Amino acid sequence: MNYQEEYAFRQAAVEEALSAWLPRADAVEGKLCESMIYSMTAGGKHVRPLLMYEACRLFGGNTRELAPFMTAIECIHVSSLVHDDLPAIDNDYLRRGKPSTHAAYGEPLGILSGDALMNYAYELLLTGISQAQDMKNAVRAAVIIAEKAGYAGMLGGQSLDVMNEKQNRTDLTAAELDNIYERKTAALLEASLSGGAAFAGADEESLLLLTEAGSFSGKAFQIKDDILDVTESSETLGKPASSDEKNGKTTYVTLLGLSAAQEEVEKLTEAAVERLDRLGRDSDFLKEFLLRLVLRKN
Ligand code: IPE
Ligand code: IPE
Ligand code: MG
Ligand code: MG
Ligand code: MG
Repeated sequence: MNYQEEYAFRQAAVEEALSAWLPRADAVEGKLCESMIYSMTAGGKHVRPLLMYEACRLFGGNTRELAPFMTAIECIHVSSLVHDDLPAIDNDYLRRGKPSTHAAYGEPLGILSGDALMNYAYELLLTGISQAQDMKNAVRAAVIIAEKAGYAGMLGGQSLDVMNEKQNRTDLTAAELDNIYERKTAALLEASLSGGAAFAGADEESLLLLTEAGSFSGKAFQIKDDILDVTESSETLGKPASSDEKNGKTTYVTLLGLSAAQEEVEKLTEAAVERLDRLGRDSDFLKEFLLRLVLRKN
């Protein structure tokens, strides 16, 4: 497999989907639309829409019809980051090498554009459902995405994370941290993989394997993020280095140390790859993509 070539056409499909479904720039006076578009086009890696695209492709789904769903998962992710950077949460002023949304547009629009992106995600899901040939599968995908984004998923994880931090909890156990990472980060990777496959009509057993693959690789993704917070510069990261230390956070790095944390990233990624093997489909690209996330620098 020529990975770069394989990556390029998928990336092009993701970029096309995201730009086709961006929020309208002129929907309301003032800066709300501009601030939403600012954060959606600031240069994210687009990991989640790419995973969704690939999972849909693996099961022979219509990736053109998937475009609003791919944009919706990115909107949910970007909304989570806009709010994550707010003074009340991580209080970070740099994101993707640019001022965070609240730093560029002020705190009120930081709050409101995060809300507006979350709301727009559901507008996209409903539009996507109404345009899909197989509405039943589209609804199945939307339910998965909504559940994984919501109070039991990403938002639940963010709430646990920030409350522990505000209470200066330094006695977190590995099990508690695992629960937080499962929700705050892994849930959206699970939604991407199983949502993309559900859209394509995959069977329940495959959805379960993809959910597990998303869970393992999502936890690996967050632990790697914690490692990079310690090992890389703000310039390389495009976001403030040592943000976790500034906030006094317990992470896998503070809990286990750098090298054990790195081993955990590798172990979890192997477990994700093993689940993909069990799908019995040509998941070579997906496996390579997950393995490369282990080596990323931002
Ligand atoms: C950052 O996610 C937040 C985490 C869940 C660790 P990404 O690293 O996917 O952020 P962007 O979208 O590429 O900036
Ligand atoms: C955030 O984790 C995970 C989200 C769901 C937003 P972090 O707070 O570590 O993410 P970064 O490092 O700011 O991107
Ligand atoms: Mg955070
Ligand atoms: Mg943060
Ligand atoms: Mg981080």
